[in-house]
Amino acid sequence: MNPEIKLKKTKPSEEFTQEDWSSAYCNVEKEYKNATLKLIKGEVPKALHGTFYRNGPGRLERKGDWVHHPFDGDGMITSMQFIDGIVTFSNRFVRTKAWEEEEKSGKFLYRGVFGTKKSGLFLSNAFDLRLKNIANTNVIKLGGELLALWEAGSPHSLDPETLETNGLSNLKGALSSNEAFSAHPHFDPGHYDDDSRMVTFGVKTGPKSTIRLMEFAAKGKNTGCLITERKDSFDGFAFLHDFAITPNWAIFLQNAIDFNPIPFLLGQKGAAQCLKSNFTRKSKFWLIPRDHGAFSKTAPRIIDAPNGFVFHHLNAWEKNNDLFVESIFYKDFPSIEPNQDFKKINFDNLPEGILKRCKINLLTESVEEQTLSNQCCEFAMVNPLKLGLEAKYGWMATAEKKTGNGPLQAIKKLDLNNGTFHTWSIAPRGFVSEPLMIPRSSSKEEDHGWVLVLTWNGALQENELVVLNAEDLSHQATLKLPIKIPYGLHGSWVDSKEL
Ligand code: CO
Repeated sequence: MNPEIKLKKTKPSEEFTQEDWSSAYCNVEKEYKNATLKLIKGEVPKALHGTFYRNGPGRLERKGDWVHHPFDGDGMITSMQFIDGIVTFSNRFVRTKAWEEEEKSGKFLYRGVFGTKKSGLFLSNAFDLRLKNIANTNVIKLGGELLALWEAGSPHSLDPETLETNGLSNLKGALSSNEAFSAHPHFDPGHYDDDSRMVTFGVKTGPKSTIRLMEFAAKGKNTGCLITERKDSFDGFAFLHDFAITPNWAIFLQNAIDFNPIPFLLGQKGAAQCLKSNFTRKSKFWLIPRDHGAFSKTAPRIIDAPNGFVFHHLNAWEKNNDLFVESIFYKDFPSIEPNQDFKKINFDNLPEGILKRCKINLLTESVEEQTLSNQCCEFAMVNPLKLGLEAKYGWMATAEKKTGNGPLQAIKKLDLNNGTFHTWSIAPRGFVSEPLMIPRSSSKEEDHGWVLVLTWNGALQENELVVLNAEDLSHQATLKLPIKIPYGLHGSWVDSKEL
């Protein structure tokens, strides 16, 4: 492993406090339409023209009952539109069926996947297996539709300008009624001669797992239409949140994890709390050939993967007979048990996310593992134009500490070849969400562009939108948000020429 060499000095910090970190968890109390954000520091680059969409939980408490895990909070979309150095802000809850019902009654009427219980008697949770599509995980634009994604159900379609909810989308007839649809589509930047595509999947799991791999046109007159699909079945239960693509492959990692449905059926645990690592089994890479690639129509490949649990991948690429996959590995599945309060979690007891690269030789099926960074990280991405290709840099959120788990308080740009890095930190009182790297269209350099990130300022008790220079993470601008928003999940950038 390459030693990590620090290129930029950051201030030595004191430790964060649990109070500062957990003070970001609240209900979003107001919906704004095109409010101009107040610039606090720096200058917003005029070359940034487009909209930063972001999704995440916005409703965490009803009449004193809290969600058990923030992932169970109802989806609330934020949009921040950049025009000539001015940023306008809008936010709106996704009007899901369950959100409307719960708003009316003022109570939690549905159980959450991560352990939230219905308000009322314990027994009311038993045998209620209805899933609440909370539309809270990601937001992307495909054609005229802005899609709020949640992986166990169909996307909600929103108006990209007003954020109004138009209802569930079947993507021009591609999806059956409330079909599972991943919250992690990947935009192929143009691996084939035709225009760019959105590659995504849905999974049905049980003793066997069936993956439906789908590719949609992402540009041109057929935007939003399903171009190609295939279905493949694999042995065993699968919890698949993310995947990776290369020109020839869609790459899944089946974590060695078991699902025990009994506590879920009895109403004692949420479905995701019934997942448990099974160290007697091996994790597997499931490699599905993409249509139009060199292995089109051939059977998937199944190859033993390193131990550990993976939510997110950074990137993947091919070189001769080798396939490289970069992912964030945890030692075990991090769950919040029924008797724990998520606002009081002890980070020292959680496994940390370690960025690793696996080199899979497709001829010998051997896998070599390399650690790219030992510092706890999440929400990593490469320049979107490098997706599926060998990239030199990754941008990610990290803990402030160099080892062990901790809240995300810094942004890091990592050179994936030699381990050198830049950091931008707001420890000890500031916290970050997912960073988004936006390439500068006028440059061919991989690291020319900006990084956008929403932060929580524990000292001032407010959210801020921060713009960094992607090349060295130097600060460009900070803008103040008019409302408090809890830590979010995923988001995307839509360039104004695509709007
Ligand atoms: Co994710």
